[in-house]
Amino acid sequence: MSTNQLDKKSEAWSALFSEPMSELVKRYTASVFFDKRLWLADITGSLAHAEMLAAQGIIGADDRASIERGMAQIRSEIEAGSFEWKLDLEDVHLNIEARLTQLVGDAGKRLHTGRSRNDQVATDVRLWLRSEIDLISDLLVELQTALVDVAEQNVEVILPGFTHLQVAQPVSFAHHLLAYVEMFARDAERMNDVRRRTNRLPLGSAALAGTTYPLDRERVAVTLGMVDEQGHPQVCQNSLDGVSDRDFAIEFTAAASLCMVHISRFSEELILWMSQNFGFVKIADRFTTGSSIMPQKKNPDVPELARGKTGRVVGHLMGLITLMKGQPLAYNKDNQEDKEPLFDTVDTLKDTLRIFAEMVGGQPNPATGQKEGGITVNAIAMEEAAKKGYATATDLADYLVKKGLPFRDAHETVAHAVKAATSHACDLSELPLTVLQGFNASIEKDVYECLSLRGSLNARNTLGGTAPAQVLSQIARHRVRLA
Ligand code: ARG
Repeated sequence: MSTNQLDKKSEAWSALFSEPMSELVKRYTASVFFDKRLWLADITGSLAHAEMLAAQGIIGADDRASIERGMAQIRSEIEAGSFEWKLDLEDVHLNIEARLTQLVGDAGKRLHTGRSRNDQVATDVRLWLRSEIDLISDLLVELQTALVDVAEQNVEVILPGFTHLQVAQPVSFAHHLLAYVEMFARDAERMNDVRRRTNRLPLGSAALAGTTYPLDRERVAVTLGMVDEQGHPQVCQNSLDGVSDRDFAIEFTAAASLCMVHISRFSEELILWMSQNFGFVKIADRFTTGSSIMPQKKNPDVPELARGKTGRVVGHLMGLITLMKGQPLAYNKDNQEDKEPLFDTVDTLKDTLRIFAEMVGGQPNPATGQKEGGITVNAIAMEEAAKKGYATATDLADYLVKKGLPFRDAHETVAHAVKAATSHACDLSELPLTVLQGFNASIEKDVYECLSLRGSLNARNTLGGTAPAQVLSQIARHRVRLA
């Protein structure tokens, strides 16, 4: 085969075919216009493979040097935007290999020794996803830090905690935000876990059964950083599984879906909190848009879109998992369909995390280095809202229990008190002492302490509770963890 014969992929596999592929089939089967973003992983994997082939004496040192030279040139062409991606060459792998052969001749044709596109693509996707997971982990730290920063400013700010979206008990706004920090911390743990299973080497599985060349797969794994914490090479141990497994991608998309679900819940709260009926927070204008007809509107587009994009990521999870379900071993072309959902999941999650970190925590002012433009908290509106809906009713019940009443009786007694307060259109704390004593004679003046929002908050001083002392110690724990 002459060096320019690889211009057409049908010629990449020979004389066997008696007619050319139709344009429609070419377009239908090609992946280059989306998988070209794997180019760096493809080159990195190829260089590691070539290094090992030379070390094992399977190709010459001169071939390896030529391959490295050619790949360096290809890399600079791609970076400069001058590389010519050809639909005829189907995918990123054939495009790069064809150009390599054009540049360095026979050495380029030797690169594919002991390798198949099946183990090549599985390796590329893993390498690419590994570096994306690392970026996502950094963004998760940024978002958690932004939330902890806002929490720290709002430890003593009280808002109504809801169950069933009905006022339940007063909570610290910081405590509320730290609930999301817990969620994102678990998302980060999950990402880390997925990374471990992603960081394993399929290369050397060849098409499906392994290869006849004396490959050193562990050497390639070490070169590519596919090692565990102790530095031991991580190699897919079954060639059939190596080329066909995409559970790492499914698992990643599941972890990404959960993270988006957390973002979506937070978005829903921001949207509620921003509505005039709550008025708890404002987000900076740059995250909102106006209405073309109603001049007074500032719509929370960013949280709404994040809530909407969650559906799209969950959809990708469904797509990927369904893609796998009927596939016999080993590689099937179906797997080419793993890329677009995976890429879009990564793009959507990264953009969303980045925008939320900035929307919550603000951006550093270049002059002062201080972050500005994060969410603005309306502490008064939150506290006013907490005063509605008898948020301290449980506290009154707990007060009666401490006076010796069984909890169920205390619960019933307080229900009567709430009914009375409702008919007087006042809060429990506004009922005169004599009225309260009418419900239970053991009630004394100190009851007003426990009926106050702040008293209620301070009383929940157990691990994980909303008392400011607990919240402060959680903030300190997160600071150490996120440093
Ligand atoms: N573009 C293909 C993919 O994404 C590469 C592997 C092709 N292998 C094959 N035997 N046709 O999966």
